[in-house]
Amino acid sequence: MIKAVALAALAALFGADAFVSPVATSFSGSAVAQRPTASRATSKAMKMSSNEEVFVPDMDRRTAMNLILAGSIGVNVLGLAVPYIAFFVPPGGGGSGGGVTAKDAIGNEVTVESWLATHGVGSRELAEGIKGDATYLVVTEDKKVQDYGIVAVCTHLGCVVPWNKAENKFMCPCHGSQYDQTGKVIRGPAPLSLALSHVEEVDGKVIFKEWKETDFRTGDKPWW
Ligand code: FES
Repeated sequence: MIKAVALAALAALFGADAFVSPVATSFSGSAVAQRPTASRATSKAMKMSSNEEVFVPDMDRRTAMNLILAGSIGVNVLGLAVPYIAFFVPPGGGGSGGGVTAKDAIGNEVTVESWLATHGVGSRELAEGIKGDATYLVVTEDKKVQDYGIVAVCTHLGCVVPWNKAENKFMCPCHGSQYDQTGKVIRGPAPLSLALSHVEEVDGKVIFKEWKETDFRTGDKPWW
């Protein structure tokens, strides 16, 4: 009896865990056996919470991080958007008033002087025109560059149409369409005449400009 009262007093002073017998815990099942470990973990967590500070960025840092994030997103969006928009802008440069300078087969700008020096009367030879389309430059009977170019893209399915000097017409090798010396369609299956562009001389260079007026060959509005 005296021993029991003494134990109760000691338990009240030091806590019940202090009187758990190591021998008893080793034989009393896993739940009891794990109690010292759980107690140490709880104690460790309490130490961490009392000794370590949780990192919370201040307002300046959060603002800086937001700016970095917004900046990186902006750079990526611009990197995608600029080429996308540029795709729909017609190529220009090198010309005047929205025209483009004609270029020869190796990419050199065409001058009237150099073209007439190497192309005879009646010739129809290709140069690079508006939107990169192959376009015929014509040398007239009075040894001048014709004031319009003939776009060589067949209106049937888009083959490049060669000039046949012997036949005096453009003849498409793909499906047999034919066009006269001005590019007017004279035999199908091509449904339309070849497109036109204006040709002007600016500072000695040959400049292609868009043709928006009535098609002089048909009297119709341009389809292109
Ligand atoms: S693409 Fe020229 S006739 Fe078919």
